Amino acid sequence: MIKLPARADWPKDNTIIAPSILSANQLILGEQIKQAQQGGADWLHIDIMDGHFVPNLSFGPATVKAIDGFTTLAQDVHLMVEKPADFIEPFIKAGASSLTLHIESKGDIRKLIEGIKDKGLSCGISIKPDTKPCDIAPYVDLIDLILVMSVYPGFGGQAFLASSPKQISDIREIIKTSGRGIWLEVDGGINKDTAAKAVEAGADALVAGNAVFGQSDIKQAIAQIRQATELK
Ligand code: DX5
Ligand code: ZN
Repeated sequence: MIKLPARADWPKDNTIIAPSILSANQLILGEQIKQAQQGGADWLHIDIMDGHFVPNLSFGPATVKAIDGFTTLAQDVHLMVEKPADFIEPFIKAGASSLTLHIESKGDIRKLIEGIKDKGLSCGISIKPDTKPCDIAPYVDLIDLILVMSVYPGFGGQAFLASSPKQISDIREIIKTSGRGIWLEVDGGINKDTAAKAVEAGADALVAGNAVFGQSDIKQAIAQIRQATELK
């Protein structure tokens, strides 16, 4: 298992780019991951969908296991599942670097976070576009990452919601108040045009599916997003 770096150990101005393999060509996934790594990706974002929490299916622990050892990129695993308790152990065993649960999913969220942290993994909490940022507050003392959804979860290739910058800046305030090093990652509709909006609002990590793996030149696609985050 590759560790996810702690926010406190990362240079302030270096935005993380985490390509989502949901948009990769699954027939040549290894080749595409290699290109993303060579193109300067920081983490790999792995979207897990159960057909209940979101109306789509994606990958399971076998994919995470195959990627672990193949790449040195951390696997930032995003659990879009109704009952995360059922999946935490299999994904830890498979080699996930971090597990991010949705605050809207079922179960004792605090207990689940503690269980993940006890195993030495980073733990994140994600919120959907209509969830109030203050709902995160009870977990801020424990988590390493907050994942703000800038689309309704379930599918790649959707447009960045206009309401997202406000959601991101509200979360940034919550993190500031906590005084803790917590990643603020944004997921959905990130491309070279929206990346700057997310960063300006307070994001320090960006997920990009279609804007990276949906492009013919993966290296150039990452470079364009990177450049957009540096134009501040
Ligand atoms: C959506 C997923 C995203 C998705 C992003 O439910 O959580 O991670 O892969 O895809 P793009 O960047 O294409 O919006
Ligand atoms: Zn995601």
